Amino acid sequence: MGEVTLGLFGFGNVGRAVARVLLEKGREFEERYGLKFNVVGVADTSALIWDPEGLDLREVLEVKERFGRLSEWRNDYEVYELPPGEAVAEINADLVVDVTNDREAHTWHLRALESGKGVITSNKPPLAFHYAEIIEAAEKRGLPYLFEATVMAGTPIIGLLRETLLGDRVESIEAVLNGTTTYILSRMEEGLGFEEALKEAQKLGIAERDPSGDILGIDAGYKATILHCLAFYPITFDEISRRGIDEITSEDVRKARENGKTLRLVAKVEEGRVSVEPLEVPRSSPLAVSSTQNAAVIKTDLLGELVIRGAGAGLKETASGVVSDIIKAALGIV
Ligand code: HSE
Repeated sequence: MGEVTLGLFGFGNVGRAVARVLLEKGREFEERYGLKFNVVGVADTSALIWDPEGLDLREVLEVKERFGRLSEWRNDYEVYELPPGEAVAEINADLVVDVTNDREAHTWHLRALESGKGVITSNKPPLAFHYAEIIEAAEKRGLPYLFEATVMAGTPIIGLLRETLLGDRVESIEAVLNGTTTYILSRMEEGLGFEEALKEAQKLGIAERDPSGDILGIDAGYKATILHCLAFYPITFDEISRRGIDEITSEDVRKARENGKTLRLVAKVEEGRVSVEPLEVPRSSPLAVSSTQNAAVIKTDLLGELVIRGAGAGLKETASGVVSDIIKAALGIV
């Protein structure tokens, strides 16, 4: 049995969903992969709980759910107020898992790699702004840097482009990569106003904490940037063109409907060119997804057209991507 130690950074909804999967499927992973995961550190924005011997995840979840903050911990584990940059270097983890929304997380991802730790992340800005630097740092040290959950949650578009379509040359990707905007546009088609539909999406936990990132196309833009980096070459989010759904009116939605089409926030990724904008798509198009589904049409020289569709948001759906990456990295380590 190989034991792999983990440091979990971010203990909001996604972090807790990842912890629950590790708890509930621990035995299954031991049997299927011969892997035992030992979480030695868990951090939220208030504190880092760290025990080099391993934490009882059930207890950590209980404290967070009861008190809302890990700094309320009163048991025998050490509670630190280390910033993530120091914490990742200090803790005895093989893998650092970032499920935060920290825009500056690339600094501590690099620090983790420098201190010999692999990184798994669902956090988009580090890749959307610093892809080349991070991947180079990981490759130089032969460490895993995995990010399946950054695009389409656990629906494996990253693995497809990074590990599967190795002989193909990607020609273009067209995709719907944001569930919040799909949800709002669909509800507007059903007669709701923009604000009402947004409130619903927030209530369902689909929208980001600050939904402007979804509405203005920033979230989809981050994802499209990451896809460009994988399919072609590294660029940054600043190089893409982007228009959100903030100016879409009920009239626009109605017009699309009259044309037999539906409005979706569509990302187009071609070599050297990335755009995100609301477009009318035919109802029969694979991009006419509903609810929190995402879809991508990938065109390659050998395969022609390939469609990948599945959950693009949600807690266990995002945990699926993060945990798959943890297992992938662990299988490489052990
Ligand atoms: N807020 C995102 C969405 C989910 O609406 O698709 C996380 O990427």
